[in-house]
Amino acid sequence: MAGSGEKGSELPLQECLQAAVQVALDAGQIIREALRIEKRVQTKSSAADLVTETDQLVEKLIISTLHTKFPSHRFIGEESVAAGDKCILTDDPTWIIDPIDGTCNFVHGAPVVAVSIGLAVNKELELGVIYNCVKEKLYTGRRGHGAFCNGEKLQASKQQDISKALILTELGSIREPTAVRMLFNNMEKLISVQAHGIRIIGSAALDLCHVATGDVEAFYQFGLHCWDMAAAAVIVREAGGILIDTAGGPLDLMSRRVVAAGTSQLAQRIARELEPVAYERDDSTEEAIDSRSK
Ligand code: IPD
Repeated sequence: MAGSGEKGSELPLQECLQAAVQVALDAGQIIREALRIEKRVQTKSSAADLVTETDQLVEKLIISTLHTKFPSHRFIGEESVAAGDKCILTDDPTWIIDPIDGTCNFVHGAPVVAVSIGLAVNKELELGVIYNCVKEKLYTGRRGHGAFCNGEKLQASKQQDISKALILTELGSIREPTAVRMLFNNMEKLISVQAHGIRIIGSAALDLCHVATGDVEAFYQFGLHCWDMAAAAVIVREAGGILIDTAGGPLDLMSRRVVAAGTSQLAQRIARELEPVAYERDDSTEEAIDSRSK
């Protein structure tokens, strides 16, 4: 879709947020109804990287609804990228969409799934909407305007000490033995420095919402995608939390790795323990590499 040249300050961001909320609620109803019925499942990058007709249907609904309201905006959607669309973030307003975060849970009928819709303008994440459609919890965040769950303001944990931290992570869908071993080694290292516990729930977007609410102190993952964290990044930051790269520098949305925590001390402490697990970047096409070097 063509670029718009619209600047962030000229965009009706509140209208964008409202539109994202409405379509997330509509999408959530479809997912809720589909959760318990049998699905036709296909695989993508690995035998554990799953997609269903509901993922594709919901992504089409979200993109067509937002495209009708904001015709000049661009889209990065998990299933559109899987179908061959490029994953390139430009300065144009770009919606970054995961129709069902937690597809593996969804396939099994496990009720930990969410719709995730973020909006970036000039490559800056401006707003995020995540809808836990089973628990009917709607998380929203807008840069500079706070983060909320069903209208209640969110505050991340202020814990700095790793030995008092409950940490979420995900293993993702990679099954290559060396990488899997490294993922487990990282968990072992965090347990060795006395973290209270490590938990896996199967939805990176909801993991990050738990950081924003202060239910847990931190989350980290190698191998997630930009659509798993775009919306949640706004919500975590607006709740007072921080997201960094697993090597300790600033978050790079396309790098497929993140550490999030309520405090920068805890995020950096976790990052120091982690051995990097290499994944291909989300924007690793030649065209994207060209646009990054400009
Ligand atoms: C996945 C989930 C999972 C995480 C993967 C993600 P999807 O998203 O968030 O918890 O481990 O890395 O890709 O495929 O269910 O949208």
